[in-house]
Amino acid sequence: MPQELTIVRPDDWHLHVRDGAALRAVVPHSARQFGRAIVMPNLRPPVVTVEQALAYRDRVLAAVPEGVAFEPLMTLYLTDTTPPAEMRRAREAGIVAIKLYPAGATTHSDAGVTDLRQVAATLAAAEKEGIVLLVHGEVTDPAVDVFDREAIFIERHLLQLRRDFPALKIVLEHVTTKEGAQYVAEAGPATAATITAHHLLYNRNALFSGGLRPHYYCLPVLKREEHRRALVAAATSGSDRFFLGTDSAPHPAALKEHASGCAGCYTAFSALELYAEAFEAAGALDRLEHFASRAGPKFYGLAPNATTVTLKKLAWTLPDALPFGDAELKPLRAGETLAWRLAA
Ligand code: DOR
Ligand code: ZN
Repeated sequence: MPQELTIVRPDDWHLHVRDGAALRAVVPHSARQFGRAIVMPNLRPPVVTVEQALAYRDRVLAAVPEGVAFEPLMTLYLTDTTPPAEMRRAREAGIVAIKLYPAGATTHSDAGVTDLRQVAATLAAAEKEGIVLLVHGEVTDPAVDVFDREAIFIERHLLQLRRDFPALKIVLEHVTTKEGAQYVAEAGPATAATITAHHLLYNRNALFSGGLRPHYYCLPVLKREEHRRALVAAATSGSDRFFLGTDSAPHPAALKEHASGCAGCYTAFSALELYAEAFEAAGALDRLEHFASRAGPKFYGLAPNATTVTLKKLAWTLPDALPFGDAELKPLRAGETLAWRLAA
């Protein structure tokens, strides 16, 4: 077993960094791990215009520690009323993607899309301008079982979306099911998926082991073991269309350890260590670089980062909590030991 692994510096193709003091607390963690990150626009209020995205970008950059190279790649939050013309302005401003949240699907998604027919002209403009569509792929129909919402979203919406806009680049984000992985594997070059570290490492038992475990609660929720295995197979397959996206989503610890706990796992602090653990368990450490550092840039038409990072097999203990403005932030596996460590 290798004790050290040096790979091209990875990127995070799905990240939440919030705003204000929370942003200043978490951005340094991602900047230490990654060269670039796709920054989610689900602030309150959401980032819906190019001007808002550029101002947000400046706030992210201001939180990057001196001497660290980290490039935030910005996204717009798609609403029922996003004007098609915003797609051209987005491309001209270097904004890479728009995010589709079905209204009500997850944290801060109430401004999301209520009906895909409302946004057809905007999606056509995105297709024309080369703006990538990032999809939170879950139906919001309360009659659908929470664990089935991704598979049903593919049937009810993604198949049609794919047919309607054949050249639109679509990322099925944080894919969590064997149905999702299979769909993406067969969908052709314009369709990709990101996979989180927590969905590679855990199945839904983690939510209930020894008591209710709120820090393992995210959306889409962890699924059965057969799904986790399908995700590991996809991530380690060497495919160009599955790549790293942490979906690291920080919430104050008190709002996760709550009667109505927020969805989101905070993994950015030790993201590469967690992915290395998952790839090592699959006997596929040699595939980590492709998944973490090469497939994503290829899909987005960018060059891989020019620098490298080194992971060492060196046990260390995660802090119990991290500062988060006035609150506390509990990283996934807080207080527990990780086998891999990112070298300084
Ligand atoms: O668990 C999640 N947390 N899923 C999402 O889709 C949103 C995210 C957040 O922003 O907290
Ligand atoms: Zn997310």
